[in-house]
Amino acid sequence: MKQLLLSGFLALFLCISFQLQAAPEAAVAMPDSYSAQVSEQVLNSGGNAVDAAIAAQFVLAVTLPEAGNIGGGGFMTIYKGGETDFLDYREVAPKKAHKDMYLDKNGEVIPYLSLYGILSSGVPGTVDGMWQAHKKYGSKTWQSLLAPAIKLAQEGFIVHPALKSNINWRIDSFNSKGIKVNFAKYFSSAQTSKIFKQPELAETLKRISSHGRDGFYRGQTAKIISQFMKDNGGIINEHDLASYQSKWRKPIVKNWRDYTVITAPPPSSGGIAILQWLTMYDLVKGDKTYEHNSLEYMHSLAEIGKRVFADRAEYLGDPDFINVPVASLLDQNYLSQRAKEISLDKISISEQVAPGLEESRDTTHFSIVDKWGNAVSNTTTINYTFGSGVIVEGAGFILNDEMDDFSAKAGVANVFGALGGTANEIQPNKRMLSSMSPTILLKNNQVNMVTGSPGGTTIISSVYQSILNSIEFNMSAKSAVNTPRFHHQLWPKDVIEHYAGIEQATLSSLSGKGYTLKQREFGDLQLISTVNGKYQAASQQGNAHRGVALVIK
Ligand code: GLY
Repeated sequence: MKQLLLSGFLALFLCISFQLQAAPEAAVAMPDSYSAQVSEQVLNSGGNAVDAAIAAQFVLAVTLPEAGNIGGGGFMTIYKGGETDFLDYREVAPKKAHKDMYLDKNGEVIPYLSLYGILSSGVPGTVDGMWQAHKKYGSKTWQSLLAPAIKLAQEGFIVHPALKSNINWRIDSFNSKGIKVNFAKYFSSAQTSKIFKQPELAETLKRISSHGRDGFYRGQTAKIISQFMKDNGGIINEHDLASYQSKWRKPIVKNWRDYTVITAPPPSSGGIAILQWLTMYDLVKGDKTYEHNSLEYMHSLAEIGKRVFADRAEYLGDPDFINVPVASLLDQNYLSQRAKEISLDKISISEQVAPGLEESRDTTHFSIVDKWGNAVSNTTTINYTFGSGVIVEGAGFILNDEMDDFSAKAGVANVFGALGGTANEIQPNKRMLSSMSPTILLKNNQVNMVTGSPGGTTIISSVYQSILNSIEFNMSAKSAVNTPRFHHQLWPKDVIEHYAGIEQATLSSLSGKGYTLKQREFGDLQLISTVNGKYQAASQQGNAHRGVALVIK
């Protein structure tokens, strides 16, 4: 009997440990239930992480109009078959764009011109991006990956209260600013918990399904877009569309502690910023132990942030137009020197933090791991919530307002408070600087974390803090995405933006040091992490969020 029991326990143990070690698991962390369901279906039917990402991107263009898009762009960090890759499907400035296009005759920035309305859009990159991703890595048919989005646009989807509330906020804010766009015409009829259909968008998606990239950049869709531009004072034409090209780039790959961080290169500022932040954190911390979100922790990271953003404003832009000194900005000696400038007692004077080298609000993110251990970290955007507020009539999709991510004038902040100079000035066909930071961490050559977030410049803080929360503070995925985060970016002077929930005593001490504290939320992190050898997946929770994360057995 004893022996029987023992062999029973042994069988059970072997079975559990087999499951723990060998059962291939997949996971997704998605910004809404529709993209979660569709990506789960693709993975369950034998699709890989890139297939799931393509299907999710098109679904989000229907169900998450605040940021999901075919009228915008994004970045995809890929780990597939043991190789790293990076797809840049960022928008570009139209050929007729020029450096001073948002300035009045006195050389002052015309309020809102780069942010709302038809002139605020770059040439969209998403459809070409998905097409290139599919050509290189897709295993399912293009049509099958488009089908769920077409069905949701044609037959409708149920409107989440958070979407309705964002639509109301956007319409009110356009009205209060006197901005004339056609956003309300397309979205005011959406009602909470009711079905919302987008027939024009369904037809555009069908053309993309039938003709691939040419279903958007050539033929009927391109004609509709360029005619709409002509009729409404826009500058994107058929030539801009036909010549758009997304680009395969080498991701930044760098070791941090015993992890390999795979992250976004320029024209994102995010990868460089995250690695500068993590590296300087270790240098400043040394042998000390920091409590999570303590005074010392927040002050150290804010001080590092001043230096990260001083470099960002000076050196970063589109690498096809300027020389970005990536290696120098990530050089260990350089970062050691920068870290030595930091005092744990006092705040550096913002005006004196110079670049160091010598010579959404909205966006959305999803993270995927498939059962083969491939990963996709994808951040996609039309920039601010609902982009330019302009819907291409007859094609049914929202145009981005990504031109605001350029520096309209040196020293004048964009909507995220980010400053820039000549490195990020407008030029035809140039990509605007981004903070999008889709990131994958490997440990022992296995995917350990997939992380990313929306939130303009706060993306960078959300992503590096998700890494510190998981690795430095051993948090579960759920805690890592929901624990309060904070952000400092040199300008506005000594302002730390933070979530509710940081201890009052810490906030008072920071205020005593000279910081101004501003409470707000940044964006919903979508994290897959590894805890005790198993994936955990989490989306930030709360009334304003509708993310869904799943571990798929
Ligand atoms: N549009 C936000 C970003 O790319 O950083």
